[in-house]
Amino acid sequence: MAIQFHKLKVSNIVRETEDATTISFEIPPELKDTFKYKHGQYLTLRFFFDGKDERRAYSICTSPIADDYLAVTVKKVVGGEVSPYINSRLKVGDIVDVMPPLGNFTIDLDENGKKTYIFFAGGSGITPIFSILKSVLYTEKESRVILVYANSNEETIIFRDSLIDLKEKFVDRLTVIHQLSKPINKGIEHTEGRIDKQRCLGIVKLLDHSIIENAEYFMCGPGGMMNEIESALLELNIDKKNIHKESFTVAENEGTEVVKHHETHAPEEKVEKVKVILYGEEHEIDIANGDTILVAGIKAGIDPPFSCQIGACSTCRAKLKRGKVEMEADDALSEEEMEEGFVLTCTSHALTNNVVVDYDDNF
Ligand SMILES: Cc1cc2nc3c(=O)[nH]c(=O)nc-3n(C[C@H](O)[C@H](O)[C@H](O)COP(=O)(O)OP(=O)(O)OC[C@H]3O[C@@H](n4cnc5c(N)ncnc54)[C@H](O)[C@@H]3O)c2cc1C
Ligand code: FES
Repeated sequence: MAIQFHKLKVSNIVRETEDATTISFEIPPELKDTFKYKHGQYLTLRFFFDGKDERRAYSICTSPIADDYLAVTVKKVVGGEVSPYINSRLKVGDIVDVMPPLGNFTIDLDENGKKTYIFFAGGSGITPIFSILKSVLYTEKESRVILVYANSNEETIIFRDSLIDLKEKFVDRLTVIHQLSKPINKGIEHTEGRIDKQRCLGIVKLLDHSIIENAEYFMCGPGGMMNEIESALLELNIDKKNIHKESFTVAENEGTEVVKHHETHAPEEKVEKVKVILYGEEHEIDIANGDTILVAGIKAGIDPPFSCQIGACSTCRAKLKRGKVEMEADDALSEEEMEEGFVLTCTSHALTNNVVVDYDDNF
């Protein structure tokens, strides 16, 4: 079935830095299975401001293996609607609409595994990485973890103390490299500057060739940083299947354009209707020229699932059963999902009049 929101109580709030806060949720016994998650997945939170539905994706920062609670960490975006609200107004005891965990930025672990995991995080991009990193350390007792973590200065490092604790606990298996663009020299060993291609190559090339080839690489941070890292990894001939990426936004402030805009094709015929299967019902909905399938569903009042609306998360994923669509952005889908016929309805335009999408055929 398509995914729906559930009401969860905020059980704890911890200030991580001046502009980042961790929110924990209480999961009632009847929702324990619904909120089971994999390290690296995200939740969608929904708020109503002046009656307007505002929903945002937040990566789970806890690990299903290392932690016994569920939490997300939200960094305030200046001028934003939701993140400033969460950082300054949300209180313990408040009830929040939360969608169950989703997302592909994860990896299956093997307790007999003996691998190297190299994580690159920038700012709030640490959240899913912190979840995966803890799971690896607690599950694969012979695997090694290297975290390269970029921030502007020592005081903006989210999970700074938790990382120190982890380092003490896993002294032989965890290496944390802090990369600070504007350090204030307050007691954290670091390298000054940004993570760019050369810096990434410099770090990875310190490892043996066989380790480089077989390591798993994870990255989450600003688009510009991720582009530089990916370019370094591809130059090292790392297999794409070992490179895992998560983007919080498709257009970052540095002017980089992560979103893949395909050349827009004219519809093959005049498209006026699409068929949508949702919550066990079939709906024939009108589609206005230029609207995505998701927008048409929202306008028709059928309440399709969505979160980011920019092709970054995959909450709006549905299976294309018939017809042809074109996606403006598809980075949030894995190759396997695309092969199975999944589309992101928030970026999909119908090209033919016989399009049928099924939100229920989702798991
Ligand atoms: C899969 C996924 C996981 C995410 N996980 C996290 C997480 O763990 N922690 C977290 O803090 N955020 C996370 N985000 C980002 C989050 O969903 C929101 O986009 C973010 O909190 C901004 O929302 P807002 O309502 O405050 O700003 P909005 O009102 O949506 O935007 C205000 C302005 O800020 C710009 N903007 C939006 N997001 C960013 C950003 N991240 N950096 C710079 N400018 C931005 C917008 O383009 C807009 O101009 C995640 C996003 C996705 C898709
Ligand atoms: S709603 Fe996030 S990808 Fe469509």
